[in-house]
Amino acid sequence: MRRQRLDQISWEDFQKLPLSKKGPYFLQSDGQPYHVLIAQQFDRASLDHLCHLATRIRRIAKSKQGMEFLAGLLPHKRAMLDFSQPSSRTFLSFYAACQILGLKVAEVRDPATSSEMKGESREDSVRTFSSYFDMIIMRTPLQGFAEKMAWLLSNTERPIPIINAGSGKDQHPTQALLDIYTLQRSFEKMNGIEGKTIVFVGDLARGRTVRSLSYLLTKYPNVTQYFVAPEKLQIQQDVLDQLDAAGVTYHVTQDFEAVLPVADAIYMTRIQDEWDEDGESQRVDISKYYFKAEHLAQIKFSTIIMHPLPRRQEIAAAVDHDPRAMYWRQMRNGMWVRSALIASIFDRHEEIDAYYQRYLK
Ligand code: NCD
Repeated sequence: MRRQRLDQISWEDFQKLPLSKKGPYFLQSDGQPYHVLIAQQFDRASLDHLCHLATRIRRIAKSKQGMEFLAGLLPHKRAMLDFSQPSSRTFLSFYAACQILGLKVAEVRDPATSSEMKGESREDSVRTFSSYFDMIIMRTPLQGFAEKMAWLLSNTERPIPIINAGSGKDQHPTQALLDIYTLQRSFEKMNGIEGKTIVFVGDLARGRTVRSLSYLLTKYPNVTQYFVAPEKLQIQQDVLDQLDAAGVTYHVTQDFEAVLPVADAIYMTRIQDEWDEDGESQRVDISKYYFKAEHLAQIKFSTIIMHPLPRRQEIAAAVDHDPRAMYWRQMRNGMWVRSALIASIFDRHEEIDAYYQRYLK
């Protein structure tokens, strides 16, 4: 792994930077990621690189010989999964990605079992993990905490990469990467993501997956974004400002059914009621924003239905059997993209390319 750069700026100066200026500090000198903290650190070339690598890993992993090759790439590295918020897919797909690449994995999922119960600060706990591991994959309810830890560790004797596996209401960069990979695979024979209409539905005010993905979509020309939600749960102004700055066409609406026929992808989300202060989302009628079996007749043959999961009632189970329901494949794509990301962080992408050229081309 090459040098990281987050030790070249003070915490005070770093905090003052807009998101668009933070990205370079998270990269290695050759442009590969070191820390993975925000969607804004990815440009189009890095997205293409990761999607390409994910596909190669996915194909290599189909044989025993390929799996043995992949497992031989990083057996000397150890990853810590530090998840202080509930998670199934993100946790398990990172776990599986580490296993595919041969990394050894440890986990803390319940802070009640760590020394934080003895009064240790979160900062000290994370610094402790860095003594024993080569990478930390972190999910936290605290906005900006993963960035703070990345800066802190980068300024110790033992800097190690931090991957943000979901922070507060603000960012979920690796979910956005797997969403991009899913869109790209789905539209592979239709000129890719370029020119498509992507419709976000549900709790857009507090859903971090939408915030990160909306930004990554600005990297593809002529994509139109729709935000469909009840007023109280509508997309926040900072996301729209970002789209304005990028010159992206978007529409903010409450009319779900009117948007169905124009969508190329419909990205459903769950009400994020863990953030409610006094049960406010219980008072919003969200049933108008459910994708029901009858809606299948109102969308195009090529439209895909996505969801970061977990779902509640927002997609009827009857929709699962339709070939346009993409959420199960989307979930599995997470394992391949996260494998590609970890391989890039530890500089193994060229070896993977070489193996692919030799045995699978
Ligand atoms: C999402 C999250 O944690 O933000 N889940 C996930 O990582 N797939 C979405 C959610 O919890 O609704």
